[in-house]
Amino acid sequence: MNELMSVDPTKGLEGARLIDGASFKMALRNVSGSVSIVTSGRAPERHGLTVTAASSLSVDPSTVLVCVNKSAGAHDTIVRTGCFGWNLLTASHVDLAQKFAGLDGSKGDIRFSEGSWAELVSGSPILIGSLCSFDCQVIGMHPVGTHTVFFGAVLGEVHQDHYEGLIYRHGRFAIPQVLPEAGR
Ligand SMILES: Cc1cc2nc3c(=O)[nH]c(=O)nc-3n(C[C@H](O)[C@H](O)[C@H](O)COP(=O)(O)O)c2cc1C
Repeated sequence: MNELMSVDPTKGLEGARLIDGASFKMALRNVSGSVSIVTSGRAPERHGLTVTAASSLSVDPSTVLVCVNKSAGAHDTIVRTGCFGWNLLTASHVDLAQKFAGLDGSKGDIRFSEGSWAELVSGSPILIGSLCSFDCQVIGMHPVGTHTVFFGAVLGEVHQDHYEGLIYRHGRFAIPQVLPEAGR
């Protein structure tokens, strides 16, 4: 796609002793991650997965990034279609988050039997009632070990006010605690 594709993420790491995955995961257990669903494709060949490795990247231009395992059903559909939906979940979406993490054994389009889904510009599935959803066009992808980082330009969005986002912390889905407003 562009020269980003040819970057070797392990370059410069020869001889470096990285910490093991178990220590890495343990260190991150206290960190709250926003839970979202990355989607791609069109019915009846839609794919989607629950992710926490996703973020806004820049405002101008409006861009995001999502990190998708190369083995995930959605991965090759994102590559093929060149677009994806990034749907951030509310506190009421625990069941949906579990389904799209494959915890009920479902795969592919059947996951979309739960929730209401629409399209914006690209045709990627957009969750009605999400905290916010972004319809994205892939502008770059970067392989890193087991995953690909997809960079997306935001073509469209929908959002709601006054909803709590769903987070993942200590190995479970949770609702963020609202702290009393700090003095300024
Ligand atoms: C809380 C949570 C966060 C996850 N975050 C990611 C992620 O950022 N990227 C990823 O590729 N998979 C992530 N996964 C795993 C995928 O949701 C899961 O492997 C899913 O079943 C992949 O879809 P597939 O079954 O269609 O391959 C996460 C799972 C959970 C429960």
